[in-house]
Amino acid sequence: MTRSAGATLLSVNVGLPRRVAWNGTTVFTGIFKVPVPGPRKVRRLNIDGDGQGDLGGHGGEQRAVLVYQRDSYDHWARHFGRDDLTPGSFGENFTVDGLADDEVCIGDRYRIGTAEFEVTQPRVTCFRVGMRLGEPQLPALLVGHRRPGFYLRVITEGEVGAGDPIVRTRTGRHRLTVAATDALLYLPGRDADTLRKAVDIPALSPGWQQSFRDLLTGDLSTATTLGPTIGTEPAWDGFRAMTVARVVRETPTVSSFHLRADGDGAEPALPGQYLTLRLRDRAEDAATIRSYSISAQPSAGTYRITVRRDERGRGSRFLHDNVRAGSSVDVAAPRGEFVLRQSGEPVVLASAGVGATPLMAMLHELADGGSTGPVWWVHVARGPEDHLFAAEAGDLLDRLPGARRVTFYTRSTAVPATGTTLHGRPDGERLALLGLPATARAYLCGPGSFVADLTTTLVRLGLAPDRIHSELFGALAPINPGVVDRPVEAPHQPAEPGTGPAVTFARSGLTTRWRDGDRSLLDLAEACAIPTRWSCRTGVCHTCATPVISGTPTYGPEPLEPPPPGQVLLCCAQPVDDLVVDA
Ligand SMILES: Cc1cc2nc3c(=O)[nH]c(=O)nc-3n(C[C@H](O)[C@H](O)[C@H](O)COP(=O)(O)OP(=O)(O)OC[C@H]3O[C@@H](n4cnc5c(N)ncnc54)[C@H](O)[C@@H]3O)c2cc1C
Ligand code: FES
Repeated sequence: MTRSAGATLLSVNVGLPRRVAWNGTTVFTGIFKVPVPGPRKVRRLNIDGDGQGDLGGHGGEQRAVLVYQRDSYDHWARHFGRDDLTPGSFGENFTVDGLADDEVCIGDRYRIGTAEFEVTQPRVTCFRVGMRLGEPQLPALLVGHRRPGFYLRVITEGEVGAGDPIVRTRTGRHRLTVAATDALLYLPGRDADTLRKAVDIPALSPGWQQSFRDLLTGDLSTATTLGPTIGTEPAWDGFRAMTVARVVRETPTVSSFHLRADGDGAEPALPGQYLTLRLRDRAEDAATIRSYSISAQPSAGTYRITVRRDERGRGSRFLHDNVRAGSSVDVAAPRGEFVLRQSGEPVVLASAGVGATPLMAMLHELADGGSTGPVWWVHVARGPEDHLFAAEAGDLLDRLPGARRVTFYTRSTAVPATGTTLHGRPDGERLALLGLPATARAYLCGPGSFVADLTTTLVRLGLAPDRIHSELFGALAPINPGVVDRPVEAPHQPAEPGTGPAVTFARSGLTTRWRDGDRSLLDLAEACAIPTRWSCRTGVCHTCATPVISGTPTYGPEPLEPPPPGQVLLCCAQPVDDLVVDA
């Protein structure tokens, strides 16, 4: 055993979560810690008297104890010119002398008092530390200055107290320091060799392991959880005029619009992607911007979208009432990460109502590609008259030797129930009869409740959550860590509208003007009750990465690593000109 270069526990700090007013909302947080005298018992999940508010982001076995160093306190005191930083100010449980982030490695074990600990990951980059210290940029600075601090897992429960020496009992595999691990996730210039080493450290927490695995494989759907997304670049900037080649009535309330890309022809689209349309009678009119999934693979230079008429909806009524063969509409390039993977795995395509659209593009792709593997087509309609793409899907499924299909009619018994037509909803008992293998990859699209229920059912049937992908025809579920008691509001104009460039939040169907007082597009979105997704709010975590459909954003301050082309980090961006984002 080696005393870790004379490291010492200076202070044990605890605090239970409480409600704190912040930014017009309430945050439930355990970031406020105060030093406690005498020895304290450390248990598997917490130090006695300590707790976390948001267990999704903090706490748990892998993040039981947060450590921060006196040397970093001195650094920040100089940086901010502050003399009020007392132990616990950075939300840490242990304030220590020694154990620098560029010396301590993931997997190192330490004995302190009668307890033993293992280093599992750097600090989670989150806005709460900035809120606690009144320094909003702090999350980015902790990463940029390479002073994040780190978490410990409790290997042996015991008692610890201020003044205890810290003794290293084991060194972590591959000697990857906390600072290097943090930079690997959040800073540019990462290399595959180090990523491979990181995923080979058993002590690294599963969350960080997954993020590094996603970075290694370029996973589109999960890489946003901690690290940057890897997107496909849109085929063209902004909107391009297209001519409606024909309109086809699919059901009494649903029609397909075939859009011909004049000149260059239709660029390829990945099966499952969507187009965004700018709808208006004349160029000087206010536009309605709405997105529609491509419902068949582009062919003969045309895209097909399929739209359900909503009697009270502006965009869908405009399409159904005003748009005819020969009309011109402005169309943004195919986008979206809900795409079929060409992996040869068993595939489940499950939809309700008009949610069949992106899955039809996937079914076309499977049939055209001569797929021979198992494919399950599960569709829910109210009755035969609303059964979208019944004949077209049937023809495609007939071409797939491994295809099985089942239709659920929820409000009609006009067609007798058979092995492939059922009355009612796709509950667990009925889906269990389909014999879906746990190795299947599922793609779901329909109303939020359909997607949520089916996801729960599929997980119960053995599918891993990361094999279930879904598309929502509206705003994505918000990610607002720790925020509680936020009233449910429909998107609306801000109380004090601005006069700057027009900013459109496409999924929420709202256009408003930039206000000079807003620091970022995230501020503006919050003023309009747009559902938002964020964690650090300072350009580090990429949780707020959002596709830009048209226009130009700029940054102030610059993010530590820019998002992939075609995306913007809402938390630190402002519009240069009229901007449309997919939020
Ligand atoms: C990625 C993506 C893909 C999509 N793909 C498809 C697709 O393939 N096919 C498809 O049909 N749709 C699709 N959508 C949904 C589509 O973008 C539109 O949201 C949909 O057409 C409704 O838009 P709207 O303008 O007609 O309704 P909106 O004007 O946006 O109204 C939305 C809802 O609010 C209600 N509402 C409006 N005004 C009032 C009021 N005054 N009082 C009370 N309620 C009101 C309406 O009833 C309506 O239900 C997709 C969305 C996304 C994000
Ligand atoms: S919220 Fe973390 S980068 Fe924007």
